[in-house]
Amino acid sequence: MSMLEVNNLTVSFSQEQGEIAAVRNVSFSIDEGETLAVVGESGAGKSQIFHALLGLQAKNATVQGSALFMGQELVGLSGRGLNRLRGNALRIVFQDPMTALNPYLRIGLQLTEVLQVHQQFSFAQAQRQVLQALEEVKLSQPERCFRQYPHELSGGMRQRVMIAMALLGSPRLIIADEPTTALDVTVQSEIISLLRKVHERHGTSMVLITHDIPLVAGLCERIMIMYAGKVVETGTVQEIHQQAQHPYTRALLKATPAKQVSRGRLATITGQPPDPGQLAAGCAFAPRCTRVDGHCHAAQPELLVLSESRRVACFHAEGLS
Ligand SMILES: Nc1ncnc2c1ncn2[C@@H]1O[C@H](COP(=O)(O)OP(=O)(O)OP(=O)(O)O)[C@@H](O)[C@H]1O
Ligand SMILES: [Mg+2]
Repeated sequence: MSMLEVNNLTVSFSQEQGEIAAVRNVSFSIDEGETLAVVGESGAGKSQIFHALLGLQAKNATVQGSALFMGQELVGLSGRGLNRLRGNALRIVFQDPMTALNPYLRIGLQLTEVLQVHQQFSFAQAQRQVLQALEEVKLSQPERCFRQYPHELSGGMRQRVMIAMALLGSPRLIIADEPTTALDVTVQSEIISLLRKVHERHGTSMVLITHDIPLVAGLCERIMIMYAGKVVETGTVQEIHQQAQHPYTRALLKATPAKQVSRGRLATITGQPPDPGQLAAGCAFAPRCTRVDGHCHAAQPELLVLSESRRVACFHAEGLS
């Protein structure tokens, strides 16, 4: 059974100029213990999908569709039900720990609070678990870290603290939203390998949101490629590397040879992603595509199922016509 089953999720924002859709009819699922990477350029809608699932969308957002997490519908969930979930089974690690941590509170206090609020632990019980979590993320002096303020730690250490926080209360799914973008290359791979260890030890399902295809293989089994709010291709890591079908996926792979891994940012693909407020009628990638023809400008390709893991939305994908 799928742990998370997302169907036709759409996230749109109302603005003065009208309605813009940042996530358009996205469907995917994650099985128990699975690891999925969500890859695409800035503005593709990667974060908005998961913000919507966690009830973290902006006030001007409308979320439509369905997202069943362990059988529970997340779309429309609010209040206590949502809080309970966010404090336990479903956790997110953000790109910049400084925005998620309170700069005026010691690390230990912030982490124990999670357990005291969501699991009704006593302080002593919570402290024990927090120290254990800080040790698990390989912070060399957990007791010291417990007493420190966020600004006293390095960026890499703060991200470890965020992962420790995500581990509290035995989560079933951890969403890591560009957890390494702000870090240098060596620390990036340490954080990915830490997430992998957590996954292996606890069987936690993981979503890694990233710009950086080479990072993915260190953690994930499957990749979902997004462009302009839509899923354009999915496959196992191997399938994507060896038989990418969508011209966008191919361009991404070409733009990131392993040597060129560049602080988590994709090397450039010619042209710019479209403004979500001004999408043309056809395929959103058409203006930048090397294989474009008249049909691509006229109609939007459906996401077709090639096999259990492979999906692609392109009129030119091989084996489709
Ligand atoms: N409150 C808002 N009102 C209007 N548009 C918004 C709002 N929040 C996000 N957007 C738009 O939604 C689109 C998708 O944003 P999202 O943050 O999901 O992108 P992303 O793929 O995570 O990019 P990045 O890699 O830069 O984090 C963007 O075009 C963004 O400008
Ligand atoms: Mg994002």
